[in-house]
Amino acid sequence: MKRLESKVALVTGAAGGIGGATAKYIAQEGACVVVADIHDDAGEAVAAEITRDGGNAFFVHLDVTREEEWAAAIGAAVSRYGGLDVLVNNAGLYLAKGCEEASLLDWQNICSVNLTGTVIGTKLALAALRERAKTSPQGSVIINMSSIAGLRGSSIDPLYSMTKGGITTFTKSIAIEFGNKGYRIRVNSVHPHAVETEMAMQYRRTGTDDPAAVETARQAIATSLPIKRVATPVDIAAAVVFLASDEAGFMTGSSLVIDGGATA
Ligand SMILES: NC(=O)c1ccc[n+]([C@@H]2O[C@H](COP(=O)([O-])OP(=O)(O)OC[C@H]3O[C@@H](n4cnc5c(N)ncnc54)[C@H](O)[C@@H]3O)[C@@H](O)[C@H]2O)c1
Repeated sequence: MKRLESKVALVTGAAGGIGGATAKYIAQEGACVVVADIHDDAGEAVAAEITRDGGNAFFVHLDVTREEEWAAAIGAAVSRYGGLDVLVNNAGLYLAKGCEEASLLDWQNICSVNLTGTVIGTKLALAALRERAKTSPQGSVIINMSSIAGLRGSSIDPLYSMTKGGITTFTKSIAIEFGNKGYRIRVNSVHPHAVETEMAMQYRRTGTDDPAAVETARQAIATSLPIKRVATPVDIAAAVVFLASDEAGFMTGSSLVIDGGATA
């Protein structure tokens, strides 16, 4: 039996990068997947790839900062697949600017996607997650995408680090709140180091899209890590699948670090 057979999952920011790999991996493990993003063409392509490979998925346009779009996306999951077991709050922005260089608008933008988006999603998915938790052996699941920058300071992006730190403690707090209320919803966060996505490689270390500079940056990251390679989106997706599965049934309020040893 596949690990997520008969589950329904919604993944935000799933048009590419970590979210896209996560949506595909979750589908491979047997779940029906709602692929949610603001980029319609790329999101439709991820859903089409899952369907072509024999899985169940559809795309919804979801800007995580918009409450009414969340309500529509969750409504679509429930009406099409009968409920919601797993919410992956993955959508996120990165600034790659110092506190001195970042504008107030930069802060408001990153805050609204990384923090407000996670809070609205959690609140609006709660009823559907609680409903499915009543009949699921290990309950329903929320997985929040943080970062190692949510566990320690970032030399590159302090505002991003502040939002990811907020996700880390919000995750622990709602794990306690929902646990104490008897909701049977496990809530955990995932903490990658640099992952080989477009965002990370082009801007995180180099501030340029010059291929030679990007490759130099990629090698520098690999060399700096005990594991001697850069993470791929699938490395992170595998951890999300584990947390979504009943194998992680005793985990809530945890911060799962997937960093190649960066913080060791
Ligand atoms: N790539 C890394 O090195 C790395 C490391 C640690 C944590 N993370 C986190 O992982 C998550 C995914 O990052 P990624 O590297 O795949 O980035 P990415 O830029 O490749 O993907 C982010 C996705 O979020 C979507 N998105 C942006 N704003 C949105 C909004 N308002 N509503 C809905 N979707 C929106 C984008 O369209 C995109 O598809 C983020 O939360 C990021 O902070 C990434």
